[in-house]
Amino acid sequence: MKTIGVLTSGGDSPGMNAAIRAVVRNAISKGCKVIGVKRGYDGLIHGQLEEMNLSSVADIIHRGGTMLRTARSDEFRTEEGRKKALNVMRIFGIEGMVVIGGDGSLKGAEALSKLGIPTIGVPGTIDNDLEYTDYTIGFDTAVNTVVDAISKIRDTSTSHGRANIIEVMGRHCGDIALHAGLAGGAESIIIPEVGLNIDQVCRKLIKGKNRGKLHSIILLAEGVGGAIELGATIEEKTGIETRATILGHIQRGGSPTAFDRVLASKMGAKAVDLLLEGKGSLAIGIKGSDIISIDIQEALEIKKQLDKGTYELADILSI
Ligand code: F6P
Repeated sequence: MKTIGVLTSGGDSPGMNAAIRAVVRNAISKGCKVIGVKRGYDGLIHGQLEEMNLSSVADIIHRGGTMLRTARSDEFRTEEGRKKALNVMRIFGIEGMVVIGGDGSLKGAEALSKLGIPTIGVPGTIDNDLEYTDYTIGFDTAVNTVVDAISKIRDTSTSHGRANIIEVMGRHCGDIALHAGLAGGAESIIIPEVGLNIDQVCRKLIKGKNRGKLHSIILLAEGVGGAIELGATIEEKTGIETRATILGHIQRGGSPTAFDRVLASKMGAKAVDLLLEGKGSLAIGIKGSDIISIDIQEALEIKKQLDKGTYELADILSI
């Protein structure tokens, strides 16, 4: 294989740049040309491509976002759009692709493989919603951002003796809420995998207040519902003054943690190695400390499970 393409797609995540850097530098070190595709599958369809070199990826390992930019492409979901993308790849001589993104992007990677372009998917999403891998690139940074926010909100929560609800991202997955809630010592963690038990949340708040607790942090995963509505219900049911914060896209930005940079570097490099071994239609992951690869279709079919042990531990420790 002489020419490899690389793109980032879907919601960006901190560490995507480190993954791009690893793809470009590993491929060039092994004698390949690398074409960077701008704005994900949309850019692929519309020919937004340019050759990358060692310096195109200089000074990016510590930067959030994605230097290749990103997009969510409806056109690529159509047969017509995919044909256009294939045509562009042929024109640029791309023989293999690395796609960095979440589940939708990996579905696209599977489609590219089916079109005859060997493609490797690298999981880049803050959501950590892919069961086949222990971690996705960006999750650790997002969790740290939320933990930082919890500390700040707890200060004012204590001063006022309030309950504070913090709504975090994750789509249908509660991993950001669960991990940040455990790390930040939240009083309650509400995630879609378990659902909302409003009476339980209120009971905990009242018990805590009666024990002299001055603050209460409730971590709410967006997949369950909105923080503002929940705050109003809690205030009405408990009489405890409640405030809501929606962290939003702050969780998607910022300099990636060392963990995410290392993960992204290993995954990006592995994707290139697999292409050069003649493989395609694989998704990269991490299991324990091992970087693994599995069939993309299989990877996407494995249903995300709740980490029950972590959830129960967080519940016990938050008393
Ligand atoms: O998938 C990443 C994610 O940040 C989700 O957690 C969130 O629901 C969604 O993307 C937000 O998407 P957008 O950036 O399009 O608002």
